[in-house]
Amino acid sequence: MNYDVFISEAEVFINGSLQKSNLGIKDGLITYIGDQLYEAEQKINGQGQWVLPGLIDSQVHFREPGLIHKEDLMTGTKAAALGGITAILEMPNTKPSTSTKVSFEEKMSLAKNRCYVDYGFFIGATHENVNELKNLQNLPGCCGIKIFMGSSTGSLLLDDDQDLENVIAQTSAPISVHCEDERRLLDRKHLAENSKNVLSHPEWRDEESAFIATAKVVGLAKKYNRPVHVLHISSKKEIEFLEQAKDHNITVECLPQFLTLYAPDCYEKLGTRPQMNPPVRSVEHYQALLRALKNGVIDVIGSDHAPHTLEEKAKEYPQSPSGMPGVQTIVNLMLDKVLSGTITLERMLSLLCFKPIEIFKIKNRGPIQKGQVATLTIVDPNSKTTLMDQDMATKCGWTPYHGQTFKGKVSTTIISGQIVMQNGKILKNPIGQPLIYNRS
Ligand code: DOR
Repeated sequence: MNYDVFISEAEVFINGSLQKSNLGIKDGLITYIGDQLYEAEQKINGQGQWVLPGLIDSQVHFREPGLIHKEDLMTGTKAAALGGITAILEMPNTKPSTSTKVSFEEKMSLAKNRCYVDYGFFIGATHENVNELKNLQNLPGCCGIKIFMGSSTGSLLLDDDQDLENVIAQTSAPISVHCEDERRLLDRKHLAENSKNVLSHPEWRDEESAFIATAKVVGLAKKYNRPVHVLHISSKKEIEFLEQAKDHNITVECLPQFLTLYAPDCYEKLGTRPQMNPPVRSVEHYQALLRALKNGVIDVIGSDHAPHTLEEKAKEYPQSPSGMPGVQTIVNLMLDKVLSGTITLERMLSLLCFKPIEIFKIKNRGPIQKGQVATLTIVDPNSKTTLMDQDMATKCGWTPYHGQTFKGKVSTTIISGQIVMQNGKILKNPIGQPLIYNRS
C-alpha cells in the first residue's frame, strides 16, 4: 500500500492515551494505524512527537470585512495553521456586523479558497434580527449565535432583557455569550475616563459586571432548558457561582491570557497591550481560574484572538482598543500547562478539541481512528518555543508573550490529509473548508 502521508514511530493519541504507533493517510482519511511501515508520497518521522486530533480555536475575531488593516481571513487562518490550530470559529463583530443573511453570505464567499484551516462563522444577535435568528442560525457555514451582553469592539450589542430571553427561547443553534452587563459598564465608565490609566480597566469592567450578566444568562438557560456557552470567564465570583450552578446546559470557556497574566503586573509591564474585555484581573482571580482549569469547571479554552495594531493600542486609555492576538499561541500556551504538570494531555484535548466538537456539534471531527478525516496537530514535547513578535503571522504583528519561552513546540498541522504547516513553514495554498454540523 502506498500512502499519501505516513507518520512513523510517533506517540499517537488513541483511545484516550498516547500509544507508540505508525499512521497512514490516504485520500484525506486515516486509513492505517499500527506497527507496520509503509511507503508514502510524504513521510513524517514522528519519533518523539505527539500526534493529536486536530485542535480547534472556538473564539477568534478576524476583522474581515471592514477592518482588514488589523487582520483578514487569510492572515488569521495562516496564524492558526502556524500555531497548530486546524479549525476556527469566527466572531461577527466585523464591519458591518455579521448579523444578516447578506453579510453572512458575503463572509462565506470571502472565505472561499482563502482560509488555511477549516472555519465556521457566528451570526451576531441584534435587536433588529431577534425574530429572524431562527432562520439565520441555519445558514450553511453558521456554527452558532453570538450575543454581546455588554459592548466591546464593534457595534454588536444585545442589552435588552426581553431580546436576550427571546433569542434563548426561540433559537436552537449553539449560543456563545459575552457576559458583561451593559448598564453597569455605562454607569462605571467614568472610572476609566477619569483615570486615563489602564490599571483601572478591571475596576471599570469589574467582576460584578461580569457576574450579573453570567448569572442572568445561566438563569435563562435553565428556564428554557437551552444550552448556552459562557465565553471568557474572568473572575473568581463567576467561577464560584458556576461551580454550583453549572448543569448539562451550561458550558464555560476560559482564555490562556487569564491563565498566564494577572493585574497589576501585566499592565505595568505591557501597558494597554493586555487590555481586553472582560479584563485580565488580579492574582486571586488568576488562581481561581487555574483551579477551575484543573477541576473541570472550565470546558473549553479559546484564544479570543482580537488583533489591534500597536499604533491603535498606543492611544491613550480608554481610547486604546481592547483585545490581544492569540490564535497562533494558544496551543503552545496550553501545551506548556501540560508539560509543566498543571493539566493532563487528555484534559488539554478535551478543552481544545473534544468539547468544542460536542458543543458546536461539529461533523467529521473526533478521536484519531481508522476512517476518520486526517486532520491532526503534531507537537514536539521535548522542544521549547520562544514566542517572538516577528514570528507572528497576524497582521497586527505582536504577541503579549514576546520573548517568553514555553515548553513544547507545534511542529505540524495536517488538514484533511494535507500537510499545511511543518516546522514553521506554510506548505499549501489555503485549503480550509467550512465546517459542517450535526444539527437538525
Ligand atoms: O477584548 C475584546 N476584544 N473583547 C471582545 O469581546 C472583543 C474583542 C475584539 O474583537 O477586539
